[in-house]
Amino acid sequence: MTLGTPHTHTRVLASTNDRARELASAGAPHGTLVTADAQTAGRGRQGRSWEAPAGSSLLLSMVLRDPPELLPLAGGLAVARTVGPLARIKWPNDVLLPAAPGEPATRKVAGILAEGRPQDGWAVLGIGLNVAVRLEDLPPELQGTAATLGLAPEDRAALLERLLSELDEALSLGTGELLAAYRERDALLGSEVSWSGGTGIAAGIDGSGRLVLELPGGGRTALDAGEVHLRAG
Ligand code: BTN
Repeated sequence: MTLGTPHTHTRVLASTNDRARELASAGAPHGTLVTADAQTAGRGRQGRSWEAPAGSSLLLSMVLRDPPELLPLAGGLAVARTVGPLARIKWPNDVLLPAAPGEPATRKVAGILAEGRPQDGWAVLGIGLNVAVRLEDLPPELQGTAATLGLAPEDRAALLERLLSELDEALSLGTGELLAAYRERDALLGSEVSWSGGTGIAAGIDGSGRLVLELPGGGRTALDAGEVHLRAG
C-alpha cells in the first residue's frame, strides 16, 4: 500500500487540504499524506468551515493521482468502514452515527472534502473525523448535530492506520462493488430531503453515484454531488 507515504504532520495548519493541494501542484506523489492536530481555517463542503478542537480529531488530506470518478463516495465508504458497522453515509459523504443505541444514524462524526484538478490528473481527499472530540467543546450550533467516537487523542494513530487500509481497499473496488457497499450504508434511503430545486424522497444511488429522488408529483430526478445542499427530514 502506497497510501500515507510520504507523510508530513504539522501541529497547526490553516487547512490540510490547502497544504495537500500545494504539494500536489508541486508534483507530490500518489498517496502523499498531510495531517495536523489543529487547523485555523479548516474547510468543509459548499464553503462551510470545519471545526475541531486541537488534538481531538483526525484531520488529514491525501494526494491522489488519477483519482476515480466516484472518489467522494469511495472516501465516504472508507471512513464509514473505519468508524464501524453502525456508521451510515449521508450522500454524498457525511458519515453519521446514531445519537443512542437503536436510533437511526443522524449525527455527523466525519466530513469529507474531495477537491480535484482533473486537467492535471490529481485530487485531494480531505477527511475530518471526530475521534476524541468532546461535544461541549464544539461551537454551540454543532453540539446538537455532531457525533464523536469518544476515544482518546492517542487513539488517532491506530485509527489513521485503519483508515489508510480502508481507503486502499475502497479505491481498489470496481464501480459495481463500491456502489453495492455504499448502498448498504445509505442513510437517506426513504427519507424526505430538500434541496434548492425542491423536495423529494430519497430512492437510492444510481449507477453514476447520483442521488435518486422520487418527486412529489410523480417522476424521478437524480442529483449530482456538489450541485446541491441537502436537508434531510
Ligand atoms: C464537510 O463535511 O463539509 C467536509 C469537511 C472536511 C473537513 C476536512 S478536515 C481535514 C481537511 N482539511 C480541510 O480544510 N478540510 C478537510
